[in-house]
Amino acid sequence: MSKQAEGVDMRLILLAIVGLMFGGCAMTRQELRPSDTGRFSEEERHLIAADDALVPLPLVQNTSETNTALLRREALPVDPSEPALPLLLARMRATMEQEQGVGIAAPQVGVARRVIWVQRLDIQPDMPFQACLNPEFLSFSDELETDWEGCLSVTGGFGEVSRPLSVTVRCQALDGTWREERISGRTARIFQHEVDHLDGILFTDRMPQPVALTPKEEYRAMRERMREEASRTEPQTNDDETSPSLD
Ligand code: NI
Repeated sequence: MSKQAEGVDMRLILLAIVGLMFGGCAMTRQELRPSDTGRFSEEERHLIAADDALVPLPLVQNTSETNTALLRREALPVDPSEPALPLLLARMRATMEQEQGVGIAAPQVGVARRVIWVQRLDIQPDMPFQACLNPEFLSFSDELETDWEGCLSVTGGFGEVSRPLSVTVRCQALDGTWREERISGRTARIFQHEVDHLDGILFTDRMPQPVALTPKEEYRAMRERMREEASRTEPQTNDDETSPSLD
């Protein structure tokens, strides 16, 4: 081997070592980011613990640039053992019930954490509410469906959104266990709408631009007409969060 070749080898080895050092540093910085601990900040704990479990948290709506910026933040993971999490869940649920929603995401109450509630319209007859921590989609159906949606945080009205008909979603429970489930139809739509909130996405982002929303009163009148025409076997729910056409 020539001296020159040895020199090249040494430079390559040095570059590799420097690369590893920088790579290592980047990884360490990432590991130390507060986001990755999943624990609430003092500010988050203060907001959540400002009142008791039955008191709704104030809803963040797109009525100002400041509020919209809150809705646009990417939510961070949550540690299921975080002590303030049961209180956050209770207060989010109180907010959702007060607003007659079928789902809610923590960013809608000003907490940028990956926490959602979804009403399981697919589990009859009770249609229970399910809390889902750190939700992830493992797959989406190729088949799409277009249906009406509204949002507790979007004041302008309702619009039609096309989304995958079915999803496989992975949720973490308060005990830390993970569960996967294939979900279709309106409940799959609610999951997608709520997980979008965790990524700072509103349903209006998924509509043709410029967005033309149907005002609430107009939508409700249309929905009432459709309800009269619809089959009486269709389950009835009342919601503003993601609104199926037959509600
Ligand atoms: Ni929403």
